[in-house]
Amino acid sequence: MVRPVPLSLLVWVVPAWAFALPKLGGLRDLMTGRGTDQGAVLEKRGVNKTIWTSSFVYQGDSFFDHWDFWNSPDPTNGLVQYVDRDTAFRERLVYVTPDGRANMHVDSWTNLTLDEVTSKSKLRPSVRIHSKAKYNHGLFLLDVAEAPFGCGTWPAYWMSGFYWPSDGEIDIIENVHSSRSNQVAWHTSPGCNLVTPGNFSGVAGSTTCDATINYNTGCGIVDPSVASFGPTFNEKGGGIYAMKWDEISIDVWFFYRSAIPEDILEGTPNPASWRLPSASLSNLGCDIDRYFMNQMLIFDITLCGDWAGTSYSQVGCPGTCEERVTDPSNFVNATWSINSIKVYNKTIFNTSYLDGGGMRSAFPHLTVMLFVNIWVVIFYGITVM
Ligand SMILES: *[C@@H]1O[C@H](CO)[C@@H](O)[C@H](O)[C@H]1NC(C)=O
Ligand SMILES: *[C@@H]1O[C@H](CO)[C@@H](O)[C@H](O)[C@H]1NC(C)=O
Ligand SMILES: *[C@@H]1O[C@H](CO)[C@@H](O)[C@H](O)[C@H]1NC(C)=O
Ligand SMILES: *[C@@H]1O[C@H](CO)[C@@H](O)[C@H](O)[C@H]1NC(C)=O
Ligand SMILES: *[C@@H]1O[C@H](CO)[C@@H](O)[C@H](O)[C@H]1NC(C)=O
Ligand SMILES: *[C@@H]1O[C@H](CO)[C@@H](O)[C@H](O)[C@H]1NC(C)=O
Repeated sequence: MVRPVPLSLLVWVVPAWAFALPKLGGLRDLMTGRGTDQGAVLEKRGVNKTIWTSSFVYQGDSFFDHWDFWNSPDPTNGLVQYVDRDTAFRERLVYVTPDGRANMHVDSWTNLTLDEVTSKSKLRPSVRIHSKAKYNHGLFLLDVAEAPFGCGTWPAYWMSGFYWPSDGEIDIIENVHSSRSNQVAWHTSPGCNLVTPGNFSGVAGSTTCDATINYNTGCGIVDPSVASFGPTFNEKGGGIYAMKWDEISIDVWFFYRSAIPEDILEGTPNPASWRLPSASLSNLGCDIDRYFMNQMLIFDITLCGDWAGTSYSQVGCPGTCEERVTDPSNFVNATWSINSIKVYNKTIFNTSYLDGGGMRSAFPHLTVMLFVNIWVVIFYGITVM
């Protein structure tokens, strides 16, 4: 005789299956030959599968522990005085906010005289920091809430090696004054070139990355978004700047806060699934591993100097750049506010070892199924007795 399934049993069975079914993705992929992130291992055999694993996070109270403070004169001739760690904290040029943002500022409270600025006897205090870690390849996700801008301001988030330009330089966020579009650039020793058209959506400028010619212009690409830098960038809450560096290319993406891909939010970034990067230096024109190595992450905010100084009079900013620097109230927006930098490391699976690997990856899911089924039987037994 077939008894009707008692309601009390369904109370157990339904949630159990609801729990188990989503975990069966691996099994489904095994049967269909399709891959998901954890089903990555289930791709066609003999194909290398890339995943990015978390290797370090710069964030919150410990953010500044992992950087050195540069307190030498600005090599780009800016009208700033970079301060050491103690001074930076004491003067509150750097601090971590209660909600965990790492902030870096230009001094916006000290008056300077024009004489002090032009003679460079006293310049405006600012911050430049270098990561203690040096990198070769990686995926770097900068979550930035606010980036510096304003007349005379020249901020950068970039990477460079100890030996310049032979170790290479990668400028990820950089521009001057109140520009609206970010400019990505690379500076190298002779022989590295940007191939255009390439796999990027931005507008290419110079294609010669050689830093020893063209007054160190390097090669560069301007982001197509007019909210990738400056006031609109900050008004929209910033976003994520992603930089992927491997032997194939160095790519940069900018995502508005409202359009950050799901995989980034979930901590399992997969650049291969993102739209075209805004900028990309391909190994077709540049042997990436020969021209880029041992890179430190760097943040700085300089004023005037080689770029913001020479362009100052052409962008409608008032007076001269030197005059601008004397008045602290001009630099209230010269602030980096960083939520985090997440560094990921590329891991490649050789899927040809996976004959039988599919079963191995489905095993935990099959275990869950078995567990659920045993309980179904037990509870059915208890309920009908
Ligand atoms: C997999 O990667 C290795 C180097 O790590 C390379 O030699 C090989 O050709 C790659 N195989 C495929 C199918 O891309
Ligand atoms: C990334 O992975 C490689 C190879 O597994 C390892 O040698 C390297 O130390 C890792 N780098 C980081 C930053 O974790
Ligand atoms: C800085 O200059 C402004 C404008 O000239 C003046 O109002 C202010 O008192 C000065 N601040 C200090 C600390 O000297
Ligand atoms: C663009 O991507 C395609 C497909 O991966 C590749 O074949 C091509 O070489 C790339 N172009 C450049 C300039 O890197
Ligand atoms: C700072 O930014 C605000 C908001 O965009 C703007 O109204 C103000 O004029 C800026 N001040 C300076 C000195 O750049
Ligand atoms: C991947 O595995 C196959 C089979 O073991 C092997 O022939 C091949 O050389 C491997 N490739 C790499 C890049 O390790």
